[in-house]
Amino acid sequence: MHPKMLAIEAADIFGVSVQAIHKQLKSKKLAYHKLRNRVYFEYETAIKIFAPYKQPCKVVVFVLVKGGVGKSTLCRETAIRATLMGKKVLVIEIDHQGNLTKSFGINASDYPVLIDLLDDSLIKVADATVNVLPGLDILPSRYDNSVLDNFIMLKQVPLQRVLKSKVDPLRSAYDLILIDCPPSLGQSISAAVLTSDMVVLPTTPCDFSDSGIDITVNEISRMCNDHDMSTIPMKIILNQFDNREKDSRDTYSDLIKHHQYGEMMFSGYIRKCKEIEKYRRRKSTVFDSTASTAGREDIDTFTRELLGMHNLKSNHVASHLPNPEIMKGY
Ligand SMILES: Nc1ncnc2c1ncn2[C@@H]1O[C@H](COP(=O)(O)OP(=O)(O)OP(=O)(O)O)[C@@H](O)[C@H]1O
Ligand SMILES: [Mg+2]
Repeated sequence: MHPKMLAIEAADIFGVSVQAIHKQLKSKKLAYHKLRNRVYFEYETAIKIFAPYKQPCKVVVFVLVKGGVGKSTLCRETAIRATLMGKKVLVIEIDHQGNLTKSFGINASDYPVLIDLLDDSLIKVADATVNVLPGLDILPSRYDNSVLDNFIMLKQVPLQRVLKSKVDPLRSAYDLILIDCPPSLGQSISAAVLTSDMVVLPTTPCDFSDSGIDITVNEISRMCNDHDMSTIPMKIILNQFDNREKDSRDTYSDLIKHHQYGEMMFSGYIRKCKEIEKYRRRKSTVFDSTASTAGREDIDTFTRELLGMHNLKSNHVASHLPNPEIMKGY
């Protein structure tokens, strides 16, 4: 797998011309490649190009009680895209199904997983993570994690601390930590939510009462209240959107008009895209190819918004950013 950031995409992120990006690649002697006349670069160059936009580490958890809505898919593709924006990323899978782990071709029986870390304080998360791509590590998962909820309850470990004590020390080593949850609302999911800076709720076009959003949002709000935590920001992303389907158009319209959920929506949606499924089966990513696909475009937009990088363009125009190095040498 060789995920790629196209020069033209970087130009769009920064609101500059593609020639300006080419010029910077050359003047700073950064590694880049050409495929079918398109210039692209990888993680090591992305670190340099995006260096002026370093932000504090953000912990984001993907939750929804309903299965098959794209939690693991978005977690995976967003993690990969973020590395191409120069971020060092850790993905923690707590879903015992281990779909995310398998999608990276990892055999989790070779590595410690979360339940092992909680059971044996001598094993550190940093020793259990597996590097899957430049800039991307994963804490794998396997079926043994299915007893996480019982373990947390029986050991009476305070929910607020159980995962936070493991994750907080990693904030200095990573720019982004993404947690992929199973389709449930047990103790381990609560622990993940209480560790996070933001909760992302992926949903798909369907009858609203069957979406699982109500119960997930209510449960997270109740839990934050119980733990005297100011509510953690929750944001909804509509996945598998298809403009040709009435269900898709109706769900999107219902969500943006909703008195509570309207304000929680990401500004776009993720279109249904067969390449997402195709590349996942090949243990690859939509960012491996240089082709423009709906999946590539939408996950890029989503990742920028998640990282707070969607305003760079207008900020450049308004010159609000303090002397961004990226502008040097134009
Ligand atoms: N935008 C999309 N376009 C096409 N296929 C998609 C898209 N998003 C997800 N999928 C496919 O939908 C299926 C379910 O996705 P995924 O496994 O990510 O859901 P999940 O919420 O993690 O499920 P679970 O709750 O069971 O863990 C997968 O086969 C995935 O490839
Ligand atoms: Mg999943």
